[in-house]
Amino acid sequence: MDLGAIVADPGTRIIVCCGAGGVGKTTTSASLALAAAEAGRRVVVLTIDPARRLAQSLGLEELDNEPRRVHLPGLDNGSPGELHAMMLDMKRTFDDIVVAHSTPERAETILENPFYQTLSSSFAGTQEYMAMEKLGQLRAADTWDLIIVDTPPSRSALDFLDAPGRMSRFLDGTMIRLLTAPARAGGRAGMRLVGAGFMVFSRIISKILGGQLLRDISAFVAALDTMFGGFRERATATYELLRQPGTSFLVVAVPEPDALREASYFVDRLSAEGMPLAGLVLNRTHPPATTLLSSTRAEAAAEAVAETGGEGSALAAAALRVHAERMALAGREQRLADRFTSAHPEVGVRTVPASAGDVHDLDDLRAMGAVLTGPDDDPTSATPRTRVLPPR
Ligand SMILES: Nc1ncnc2c1ncn2[C@@H]1O[C@H](COP(=O)(O)OP(=O)(O)OP(=O)(O)O)[C@@H](O)[C@H]1O
Ligand SMILES: [Mg+2]
Repeated sequence: MDLGAIVADPGTRIIVCCGAGGVGKTTTSASLALAAAEAGRRVVVLTIDPARRLAQSLGLEELDNEPRRVHLPGLDNGSPGELHAMMLDMKRTFDDIVVAHSTPERAETILENPFYQTLSSSFAGTQEYMAMEKLGQLRAADTWDLIIVDTPPSRSALDFLDAPGRMSRFLDGTMIRLLTAPARAGGRAGMRLVGAGFMVFSRIISKILGGQLLRDISAFVAALDTMFGGFRERATATYELLRQPGTSFLVVAVPEPDALREASYFVDRLSAEGMPLAGLVLNRTHPPATTLLSSTRAEAAAEAVAETGGEGSALAAAALRVHAERMALAGREQRLADRFTSAHPEVGVRTVPASAGDVHDLDDLRAMGAVLTGPDDDPTSATPRTRVLPPR
């Protein structure tokens, strides 16, 4: 996978970083954005819940839901490159949609509605839906030539693709339509319209859910209904954006069975939907310092050294054992990577070794960006960057 070429290509307009929870989506997005800006592109990165220190490094002190330019000292000398960053504020994005699509009085009613407030801040899927919304807005603004999108910390990578549809089906769904039928048809006329059987049903439901909640939902959906043509169409429109040429998905995983299984599902899903995949980033791998000494030989040497009991033998034995462990770990990671590759031979892979500490400041991001976008061989170790261990 040649990520350097992908980020530098003027034809690449959107990159979406997906993957299971905690694998490095936010860090990868920010690193790639920095690399692309330094390659001369006008980039905006949409981050979601970045770690506090990373947000500070990007100059994002508070959620303001609009991109801010990141000051890059290296880019003052006439390079056209620019980096802008923002953190998604899910509730603000939702509020903005409401305000943009309704009259001021109606917007106020909706924004104050308790059901709306719950939905906009904590409903599962709202964050995914709003990330897509924001992507649509950034794309429409046409201010940047590359948009890099981080995705929410879902359990499954597929949630980014599925949650918006699920949410719009919920809002547009039969259940909600039934529950809100009286409100939509308007008072007593509505009751006649839906019939006595439904009223019994509705009374039971309102016992379970609470009458106030039901009235809140009714009022909210009735207001939304007249506001714009339904959530489903909106979700479909943003989804379509992801299928346009110029959009590229990047799947991030760590060399662990669960994360790679997620990555596999996601890759299959993208190909089923005809969405372009840039490749897999295998993040936080543990390559050993050298592969000249095998795990078994290092273990044996550790024992032999320890038996001599000479000066420094304990330390030497400990160092050999660390190496033996690293070799074994890297071997396991390589087998997991190989299993993924044999299931998906067409998918390019780039491994990114775990750095000693967290990836938090611009220097860390630059270093990670260099590994992501650099040549296939690591010049210092000559290890191919597609592998955890060099081939025998
Ligand atoms: N290559 C790496 N080496 C060391 N630490 C890393 C590396 N990549 C990411 N990290 C660290 O791992 C942590 C999780 O990374 P990140 O927040 O990017 O993951 P995420 O996939 O966005 O998580 P979430 O699903 O919660 O949004 C962070 O503290 C980050 O600094
Ligand atoms: Mg994240």
